[in-house]
Amino acid sequence: MTAFDRFRQSADTVRPQAAVVFGSGLAAAASPAFTPVATIPYADIPGMAPPGVAGHRGELAVGHWAGVPVAVGFGRVHFYEGHPWERVTRLVRVVAELGVRRVILTNAAGGIREDLNPGDLMAIRGHLKLLDAGGWKSTPLTPSPSPQGARGANSYSLLAPDLPSGIYAALTGPCYETPAEIRGLRVMGADAVGMSTAVEAETAADLGLAVAGVSCITNKAAGLGSGVLSHQEVEETARTAVGRLGAVIGGLLRI
Ligand code: HPA
Repeated sequence: MTAFDRFRQSADTVRPQAAVVFGSGLAAAASPAFTPVATIPYADIPGMAPPGVAGHRGELAVGHWAGVPVAVGFGRVHFYEGHPWERVTRLVRVVAELGVRRVILTNAAGGIREDLNPGDLMAIRGHLKLLDAGGWKSTPLTPSPSPQGARGANSYSLLAPDLPSGIYAALTGPCYETPAEIRGLRVMGADAVGMSTAVEAETAADLGLAVAGVSCITNKAAGLGSGVLSHQEVEETARTAVGRLGAVIGGLLRI
C-alpha cells in the first residue's frame, strides 16, 4: 500500500466537505483552527510535485477546521515553475476525488485598485486569465460551448461577505509586472494581480465544486508603490494577514 493509499483511507474516515489551498506565506492561517488527522507530502501524491517557491510547504492534510471536516493544501505549484497545467490543477482534482463540495483558493496578490492596500483581503468575484501567449480571451477548459465552459469566466460562486470583492488578473509570471503592464491591467478592469488560482478555479468549477477565491494584497502593484517588489516582502506582508484570513475561511466553511 502506498502513502497515498493510506492517506486516502484516512480521508475516508474524515470525509472532508471543503478544501482550502494556501498560497505564498498564508499557511499559518490554518492555526489554531485546523487540527490535522493525516498529512501527505505533495511529492507522494501521483501527478503532483513539491513546490519550488519559498513559503509553500507542499503538503496536503485532512482534518477538522473548527469542527468542519476539511482538506488543506499547504502551498501550490505554479505554471511559472515549469509545470504543465495538469500538474498545477492536480491538487484540485485530488481534493474533488476526496469528496469535497467546495474549494477555497487563497493567494498573494498585488493591489491595483486604489483602495486595496498591503495586508487587505479581497474576495475574488471573477478573473482575467492572461495566461496564453495567443491573447487574453483564452480557450475555456471545457472545449465545447457548455454551461461549464461558460462558467469559466465566473468560477467564483462563493463570496466572503465582509470583504471587498474584485477582479483578479492571473499572469504567468515568474517576473512581477512592469508599471506599464499594471496600467494596462487597470484599464482592463483588474483590481489585483497574481500568478495562480485562475486555472485551479476553473477546474474546480468544471468539476461542479463551489469556489471561493481570496487574495491577500501583499503590495501595491508595480509602479503604484515605492521601491522594488520582492518575494520576501510578499511573504512578510502575507504573515500580517493570516489571522484575518483564518477568520474569513472559518466563515466560508460555515456558509
Ligand atoms: N504581482 C504578481 N504576483 C504577485 C504580486 C504582484 O504584485 N504580489 C504577490 N504576488
